Amino acid sequence: MARRERYLVGLDVGTSKVTAIVAEMLDGEGTDIVGLGVAESRGIRRGVVVNLEAAVESIKKAIEEAELMAGVEIDSVHLALSGPHIKGFNSRGVIAVAGKNREITREDVRRAIDAAKAVSLPTGREILHVLPQDFVVDEQDGIGAPVGMTGARLEVNVHIITGSQSSTQNLVACVNRAGVNVAETIVEQLAASESVLTDDEKELGVALVDIGGGTTDIAIYERGSLWHTAVVGVGGDHFTNDIAVGLRTPVPEAEKIKRKCGCALSGMVDEDETMEVASVGGRKPRVMPRRILSEILQPRAEETFHLVWDEIRHAGYEKSLNSGIVLTGGGAILDGMPEIADAPRMPDQRRRPGRSRQQPHVCDGCRARAVRIPQFHGSRWSRAGGRGGARARRRTSPGSFPRILLNRGVTNGRLSQDVRRGHA
Ligand SMILES: Nc1ncnc2c1ncn2[C@@H]1O[C@H](COP(=O)(O)OP(=O)(O)OP(=O)(O)O)[C@@H](O)[C@H]1O
Ligand SMILES: [Mg+2]
Repeated sequence: MARRERYLVGLDVGTSKVTAIVAEMLDGEGTDIVGLGVAESRGIRRGVVVNLEAAVESIKKAIEEAELMAGVEIDSVHLALSGPHIKGFNSRGVIAVAGKNREITREDVRRAIDAAKAVSLPTGREILHVLPQDFVVDEQDGIGAPVGMTGARLEVNVHIITGSQSSTQNLVACVNRAGVNVAETIVEQLAASESVLTDDEKELGVALVDIGGGTTDIAIYERGSLWHTAVVGVGGDHFTNDIAVGLRTPVPEAEKIKRKCGCALSGMVDEDETMEVASVGGRKPRVMPRRILSEILQPRAEETFHLVWDEIRHAGYEKSLNSGIVLTGGGAILDGMPEIADAPRMPDQRRRPGRSRQQPHVCDGCRARAVRIPQFHGSRWSRAGGRGGARARRRTSPGSFPRILLNRGVTNGRLSQDVRRGHA
């Protein structure tokens, strides 16, 4: 890439779209987004290459568009990795402090982290990230920076993220075939967290929920560190497929309808609103009530948040999300998703925007798109059968106003942050 020191490029090869972002390093602090290339994703499903040639073409398109906009030639990228093959778990490393006076050095910290990394992985898997959470010096726990402290025994807790070697290699091969090198790989959950979450949120406890095309990725932070990552196998494309089946319309048309008229909470849609739906087999388009669309989408949205909550509860963080959850990813743009996530009511209770006490406050401001739900009372979700397997249970606890920050700016601002991080 021309003027390597000035520009950095992030590449996100998602199920739905490939995004390349060129960031210019500013003289002072921070970066400026100077190029953005978005191409429809082909040949990639849930982070895995399923058609190499098609994937290469999509990547090329996104890169070329970003190059054109930024006016620079891209030769290397920071590549985001995603998909169900990405798995995270916690580990612990213990060492005896080496120095004579028992003062902990950087080398001790490195050895402790190496000890935590010494886990046996199934064949074909590799460690992608080792993220220290906290340290224990002798009996004292919760230490953030142990270098310079004195102790005989140093323990470190880490979160390890692993991925399938072949999935990563195939994706890197596609990027290489598109004519660019991969400078660094970063798991998408981390890149998204870096971009979307504030330090305060990470300190207090927050779950980032990235609703993509094929999957929903979860990253849970507490005390400033990452403690849990998970991937739920439901994404925005499942909503689209439900529409295609429910309205008997082709998938591309279902996608259009979802974006134009979709609302995940049927109570937010007026009964007399209508929409036009294309038919399959060359039949005439039909006019249908928009409420039907919401009735198709709502069970899927409920199922999604039910699975998210299940994951949070099984991981043991149901009580620690003091900053609630933050929604991001294309699937979170669907109207009604924050309200469903907040789920203070029974799904069949009709709610109209403007009349609700809990009307979301929408504002623009940050670069990445994010919807913040400060008090995510996941315990409201309980399995109660029905379509989609999930129903919201009414609770009498006073739901706080969902504070919604919905940015309609750069879709994948997360990668710009990734870029910033990669250069630091
Ligand atoms: N305006 C919109 N309204 C509703 N849904 C939308 C809108 N824009 C995008 N989506 C949905 O968002 C999903 C894609 O999100 P995103 O771009 O974050 O996914 P991705 O990163 O390509 O996929 P993944 O992370 O699963 O690999 C698609 O299902 C798409 O239908
Ligand atoms: Mg994604």
